[in-house]
Amino acid sequence: MKTDIVQSINYNQAPDSVRREIAGLLHRVWPNACPMPNEKIPEAHGKELNAHSFYTYIDGKLISYAGVVQKTINHVGQTFSIAGLSCVATDPDYRYQGLGLRTVVAATQWIEKQSDIDFGIFTCSPSLANFYHNSGAWTVVEDVVLIGSRDEGALSSRSIDVVVLMRLFSEKAKVQESLLRHSTISLDLPVGQFL
Ligand SMILES: CC(C)(COP(=O)(O)OP(=O)(O)OC[C@H]1O[C@@H](n2cnc3c(N)ncnc32)[C@H](O)[C@@H]1OP(=O)(O)O)[C@@H](O)C(=O)NCCC(=O)NCCS
Repeated sequence: MKTDIVQSINYNQAPDSVRREIAGLLHRVWPNACPMPNEKIPEAHGKELNAHSFYTYIDGKLISYAGVVQKTINHVGQTFSIAGLSCVATDPDYRYQGLGLRTVVAATQWIEKQSDIDFGIFTCSPSLANFYHNSGAWTVVEDVVLIGSRDEGALSSRSIDVVVLMRLFSEKAKVQESLLRHSTISLDLPVGQFL
């Protein structure tokens, strides 16, 4: 898989020019949810999620994007470092050319190389499960419910039309697989946020 056209940077350290282009792409893809950048550049990922950005330019325009967000969660008395894909998007004018696939391959390969990530987890619409399987061996785990938090009003994979995708990376996660499967995993995010 040719991933050399995919660039990457720590989102929190990215120059305004790149952050502006990321925000512009997200607005083109999700005009209602993602504001158009003006003097203020809308944040694609909260600082605390220590996001790493993967993006592809064609003809000087940023047209495909995947963010990897990271955080620590507590699950049945254990602490895990997790990563999830966020804001995966290709410009509507450039779809079905393999760009999203390459961008997600690069993002997933980066996660695989991090020694401190225990497992990856995020959700997608059922129609994109094959896309994520082919671009990063992300597997649908039907026995796992992912929730934004345990607070009232938090989002849950049960209440929206999504599947949960997961991959175990560290030895710790593999040893603890029985704790992670057949369970409800809380991302411990503020109400309204989800992966
Ligand atoms: C999902 C998305 C990023 C794919 O980007 P893309 O650059 O068009 O993807 P690719 O061209 O690399 O497609 C790779 C494979 O996935 C398939 N695929 C792409 N988009 C798909 C979709 N919306 N539904 C089902 N399959 C899709 C392609 O057919 C291709 O499979 P093939 O090789 O067997 O033909 C793009 O459709 C998008 O931005 N969608 C809106 C935002 C979104 O839903 N993001 C995901 C949030 S979880």
